[in-house]
Amino acid sequence: MSRKLFIAGNWKMNKTASEAAEDVSKFIDLALGVAGKINIALCPPFTALDRVSLILENTGVELGAQNLSEVESGAYTGEVSAAMLRDLNVKYVIVGHSERRQYFGETDEVVSLKANRALQSGLLPIICIGETLEEREANKTFEVIQAQMKGSFAGISKEDMLKTTIAYEPIWAIGTGKTATPEQAQEVHAFIRKIISETYGAKTAAHVIIQYGGSVKAANSGELMAMPDIDGALVGGASLDPVGFAELIKNALQVATE
Ligand code: 13P
Repeated sequence: MSRKLFIAGNWKMNKTASEAAEDVSKFIDLALGVAGKINIALCPPFTALDRVSLILENTGVELGAQNLSEVESGAYTGEVSAAMLRDLNVKYVIVGHSERRQYFGETDEVVSLKANRALQSGLLPIICIGETLEEREANKTFEVIQAQMKGSFAGISKEDMLKTTIAYEPIWAIGTGKTATPEQAQEVHAFIRKIISETYGAKTAAHVIIQYGGSVKAANSGELMAMPDIDGALVGGASLDPVGFAELIKNALQVATE
C-alpha cells in the first residue's frame, strides 16, 4: 500500500497578494524538482488566490483555499462560494480548522455542510480535527476525535471519503512550537484510520491521506513522515518562508522514500 505524501502550506491570515506572488515564485524555483514525487498545495488567503493561481499553472503545485461557504450562492455578505474557488482553479479547501471552530463558531455540523458542499462542487476538502490540551490531559483524545469525525464527516459517502484528506492537528501543538512526538501523532493517526475502516471499510481506510499539523518544521518533518500512518503535513508558520518550506518538503520526502 503506498500513499503519496501530501504536504500543504496553510498561510492563514498572512501575506498580501503582492507578497504572496513574490514568495510563490521563489518557492516554485526551489520545489519544482520534487513536485511530481509528492503532492504539494499552497493555501494563501482568498485575496491572493487569483494571482497565485496564475503562477502555479503547469508547475505541479496545487492551489488550496482556507475556507468556503456551506451555501451555494446568494445574499451572504462576505462569504466565498465553492464555485468562486473552482473558477480560480482551486483544488483543495481546508475545512473546520481549529481556528475557525474556536474563533468563528464552526460546529461539526457546519464543518460537515462545508465538506459536503466542497465535494459536490468538485473541490477536495482537507477536514481538520484535533483535541485541546485539557482534553488530552483528561485522557479524552480518542473520544474527542471519534465525536469530531462522526459529526464533521456526516453525509460523506465512501466514494467521497477517497477524495477527502484528514488533517490531525492537536490544538496544543498549533503555533506553539510544541510538536506532538512522532509516536503521539502516530497513535492518533492509527486510531483515525481505524475509525475510517469501521465506517467505510479497510480498502478505503488504506487509501485515505491523513496529514499531521502542529509546529511542523524542516527539523522534524522527516521523523513525522517516517511513521506508518502519517501521510503528509498541514503546515502553518513554517510554510510562510519559501526557502524553509522547500527544505521541509525535501526532508519529508527523503525520509518517506528511504
Ligand atoms: P503551525 O504549523 O504554525 O503550528 O500551524 C499548524 C496549522 O494550524 C496548520 O493548519
